[in-house]
Amino acid sequence: MKSIKGRLYIQNGIIIISIVLILEVIFLFSVRSYYFQSVERQLINKIDISGEFYNRHLINERINEKAKYILENDSKDPIFYMQVIDSDRIMIIDSNGLSYNKPLNTRDIVEALNGSTKAIITKDVETNEKIMAISTPLYRLNDISGVLRYLISIEDLEKMVARISWISLLIGAIVIIIIFLLSSFLANDIIGPIKELTNISEIMAKGDFSKRATKISNDEIGKLSRTLNYMAEEIQRSNSVKNEFISSISHELRTPLTAIQGWSEIILSGEVENLEEEREGLRIMASEAKRLSSLVEQLLDFSKFEAGKVTLDLKKVDINRLLNDIYSYFKKRFHKSQIKASLALDKNRCYVRGDVNRLKQVFINIIDNSIKFSGEKGIIIIRTFLKKDIVLIEIEDNGIGIPSNEIHKITEKFYRGKTKRSGSGIGLAICREIIDLHYGKFYISSVEGKGTKVSIELPLMNKDK
Ligand SMILES: Nc1ncnc2c1ncn2[C@@H]1O[C@H](COP(=O)(O)OP(=O)(O)OP(=O)(O)O)[C@@H](O)[C@H]1O
Ligand SMILES: [Mg+2]
Repeated sequence: MKSIKGRLYIQNGIIIISIVLILEVIFLFSVRSYYFQSVERQLINKIDISGEFYNRHLINERINEKAKYILENDSKDPIFYMQVIDSDRIMIIDSNGLSYNKPLNTRDIVEALNGSTKAIITKDVETNEKIMAISTPLYRLNDISGVLRYLISIEDLEKMVARISWISLLIGAIVIIIIFLLSSFLANDIIGPIKELTNISEIMAKGDFSKRATKISNDEIGKLSRTLNYMAEEIQRSNSVKNEFISSISHELRTPLTAIQGWSEIILSGEVENLEEEREGLRIMASEAKRLSSLVEQLLDFSKFEAGKVTLDLKKVDINRLLNDIYSYFKKRFHKSQIKASLALDKNRCYVRGDVNRLKQVFINIIDNSIKFSGEKGIIIIRTFLKKDIVLIEIEDNGIGIPSNEIHKITEKFYRGKTKRSGSGIGLAICREIIDLHYGKFYISSVEGKGTKVSIELPLMNKDK
């Protein structure tokens, strides 16, 4: 496995080294050509002036006479070394008054004999020194009778360019090292939090959610750290809710079981005083068994939602009619609890595409809560409003309400209030799941001590369907 740090090094390294190398090459090429061109310009200037002068004033002279004259004029120059060459490329004379009887074949001389001025870089035949040479034709009347050539040593220039090259290579290497150190520092900055995240998620994978990421940077990795911390908090919280639920559900299960066990033992031992008492015992056992089975039923139902195994039996549902039916179903309970309930339905028909039994389950649960959590003489109002493409259903009570710091938890599974009347705490979680499956919205507003309003929005069915 390649580490991120290694990848960053390789990628950055390739980019930085390439950039530095390209810049070095451009710089050195420019420096070299700047110095060489300036020397070449000096040579061209010198030969232009001298060539023109000799060609104008010694136009009638033979090359040998010209050579003597040029020697007198040019031999004292400390920088430029002069040569006069005849048309057979034999050097007749140089700055030192010497001649050389082998023909010279350099390109500048050949070009000058053809009529053009040309500069070249070459090596001195005798000293092997690096030189720059320039040649221009010398005329006798209209013919080229020889060549005037100037030479200058470029050894020092080469040395200077070499020195600049070394210095710039050294600077390049220093730049590369500094950038590498900096990028290693930056890489640690990125990799530190990633390493920490990896360690923490490994610990979490083993089931310990108490650790938190501490290196939280202000970037995507920081966001990941925050998300991981949030996830751990949520898991811890839902674990504790689950544990609480298990203990409370055990309690819920134990109460009816104790009653059933107690009464069955009394009846079996024959301790009952009369038939009346026996019947009462059996009635309690039957009702507690019913409570148990409905609790277990609800739990099973909820776990089906959790596993995503619930499918809806979708049909056209008239919401007003459904609420009317449910209202009739609750009439006795309202009366028993002395609750003043009222139904205010929209005059228009509100059809939705839904599972009538599941929707019934939702409304029963909410109205059941309203009854449970409104004291005697409570008021419950059930309303519907037909809007543009939704139907809004509101169920409002003036009961005990929900503390504002708990309201966001209320539709979570297993969340149950601290009141005696609270049940298993699954009712609203199932309601929300069912409404979600209907692509609807579910929200609760409540003021502690004043009452609670549950609002549900369901998408209306297309009229033409
Ligand atoms: N209308 C309401 N007024 C006040 N508190 C409410 C109301 N509806 C719900 N609650 C609070 O929200 C909690 C969760 O409600 P939910 O219906 O999910 O569970 P439950 O009624 O306690 O049990 P279950 O419905 O599973 O028998 C309740 O225990 C209660 O504390
Ligand atoms: Mg409930």
